[in-house]
Amino acid sequence: MAFDVNKIRADFPGLNSGLAFFDGPGGSQVPIQVGNAISEAITKPISNRNTITQSERNAEEIVINFRQAVGDLINADPGGVVYGRSWTQITYDFSRTIAKTWKPGDEIIVTNLDHDSNIRPWVQAAESVGAVVRWAKFDLATGELATSAISDLLNEKTRLVAVTGAGNTLGTRPDIKAISTAVHQSKALLYVDGVHLTPHAPIDMQDMGADFYGFSFYKLFGPHCAALAAKPELLMTLNNDKLLPSTSAVPERFEFGTLPYELMAGCTAAIDYISNMVQSDLSTRRAKIQHSMRELEKYEEELFALMESGIQGLPGVTTYGHAKKRTPTVYFNLKGFQGAQVYQYLADLKVNAPAGNFYALEVSRALGLGDTGAVRVGIAPYSTIEDVNRLLDGLHELTK
Ligand SMILES: Cc1ncc(COP(=O)(O)O)c(C=O)c1O
Repeated sequence: MAFDVNKIRADFPGLNSGLAFFDGPGGSQVPIQVGNAISEAITKPISNRNTITQSERNAEEIVINFRQAVGDLINADPGGVVYGRSWTQITYDFSRTIAKTWKPGDEIIVTNLDHDSNIRPWVQAAESVGAVVRWAKFDLATGELATSAISDLLNEKTRLVAVTGAGNTLGTRPDIKAISTAVHQSKALLYVDGVHLTPHAPIDMQDMGADFYGFSFYKLFGPHCAALAAKPELLMTLNNDKLLPSTSAVPERFEFGTLPYELMAGCTAAIDYISNMVQSDLSTRRAKIQHSMRELEKYEEELFALMESGIQGLPGVTTYGHAKKRTPTVYFNLKGFQGAQVYQYLADLKVNAPAGNFYALEVSRALGLGDTGAVRVGIAPYSTIEDVNRLLDGLHELTK
């Protein structure tokens, strides 16, 4: 069955506001099923995770379900799924831990296409041990990040490559599989930021060849937290700082303090929601997720084409990023208007379309947009043709 937007819209109380949401790349609206799962988990008998009492078992079960759900979403081993309060926090933690294995003169590669959370933690970790940072750059005209931009920098000293699955302003989707082949020939590790990609495409981190892959739940129907996945054997080689009484087991040793069971239950509900988003008679959650995401991708591509061509037809418009493979995201400026003015004008029409650098600071600076950036609009699963028309009508009104 095809993607049915009206069916899913009924599940999102936030849509009753009448707002048209083009700020999905910053965070999605949340279906009622996720809110209910959080509420249920926090109000049922709950204790610290263990297996002796019922309330302990409830917490234990939530954690097990969370890891399995993430495993199903991105094709990861549940035994290597790490919970984190945000992707930024996870990357800071892992960069510091992985940097303990580096020595002066070792090299890492970051890209200027990435959100700062997949750049700065690595740059700072490299500085702390005297490792060298190499920068892979995207093509300013097209927004493409060529595989050669990374492979040309690889050598026997390279220890890690940090790259995004999709740029959160330009939408560019680098060829991660090809990058992975090159990175692994050099015996380096590949750390992939899947925050902007995961809400828009079926994900298979093993097929992609990512050693580490992660994303944030609040971009795909879930609460404000994140997860990272890696092979348990790889995680076992990493010695992070931890409290003496806390477990050394993987993945728990990377999760500090008591876990937020209610948020984890919400994450599982978000993944279950995705698996049921498009009807099918498939039997496993993984197969249903893949099916839903493939159908969603088709739906979003149609709306994206409409939105992008409409924006490109505006007087005085500059759109940034024209990579062949992209998420449904347009980053643009209008001559004679500050991004903030466009943002405010649309907000008054109940159309959410923020402007800024969205922490893709290197992208904004490379494009000559300084730290101000541009307006960003993204298609979300609950976006409709009517929403796109409201956005385009508003922009036409502003520019006429
Ligand atoms: C591509 C990308 N990476 C990382 C992040 C940061 O994620 P978090 O807020 O979970 O730290 C964002 C947030 O906008 C993002 O779009």
